[in-house]
Amino acid sequence: MSALLTLSAISKTYQLGNNKIKALKKVNLVVKKGELTALQGPSGSGKSTLLNICGLLDHFDEGTYHFEENDISTFTKQQLTLKRRENLGFVFQGFNLIPVMTVFENVEYPLLLAGVASRQRREQTLAVLEQVGLAEFVTHLPDKLSGGQRQRVAIARALVKKPPLVIADEPTANLDSDTARHVIDLMHTLGRDYGTTFLIATHDERMAARCDRTLQVTDGVLY
Ligand SMILES: Nc1ncnc2c1ncn2[C@@H]1O[C@H](COP(=O)(O)OP(=O)(O)OP(=O)(O)O)[C@@H](O)[C@H]1O
Ligand SMILES: [Mg+2]
Repeated sequence: MSALLTLSAISKTYQLGNNKIKALKKVNLVVKKGELTALQGPSGSGKSTLLNICGLLDHFDEGTYHFEENDISTFTKQQLTLKRRENLGFVFQGFNLIPVMTVFENVEYPLLLAGVASRQRREQTLAVLEQVGLAEFVTHLPDKLSGGQRQRVAIARALVKKPPLVIADEPTANLDSDTARHVIDLMHTLGRDYGTTFLIATHDERMAARCDRTLQVTDGVLY
């Protein structure tokens, strides 16, 4: 399998007042297409920082990052936004659904932003909602759903454009263990069906065990 992401000696420092926080120290990471990779590590070790860089949401100070064959450091802000829109889906622990939009509208939204025609939007949205087992909930508002159902909506939204890469930051943190297991299995199934690559930060031992591999982040260093 070829590499989707190749990070070489990536470092990232945050400036907080007079303090410098070295959040990432010369991180090397290769993620192959279709792989489910879990990042584990203590709070503050740098997992979210690494995910945000991989997800083209944040800059790095040193090193190189190739997304497929593209050298990310040569990208303008506009190119980065475009690249992110075309290639990435995100799942966060707080679900981040839009409360005034129905389940259908939340999931359809990335397609609307991408300018996909209405009929195709409808087909793709219904197909992915079917996949996550929420076909009957299309007209519901998010606050009428359970935590697990909300997270499944968030996963459907992340996957509706069939992006090559989905970044998930603690996707099961707010879920009970049965629901968490269901969400993990779902990512597995969708990963296989859609050919999606997943990069997941998690404290959940069982989630990590179900990924293809687990990497440890400790004090900004990836092991
Ligand atoms: N925007 C920011 N400004 C300044 N420092 C930051 C910022 N974001 C993160 N940090 C610092 O960078 C380090 C790594 O933080 P990060 O959020 O990546 O950790 P994490 O492994 O995701 O932790 P958690 O498991 O608690 O989510 C921490 O010391 C944190 O305080
Ligand atoms: Mg984090």
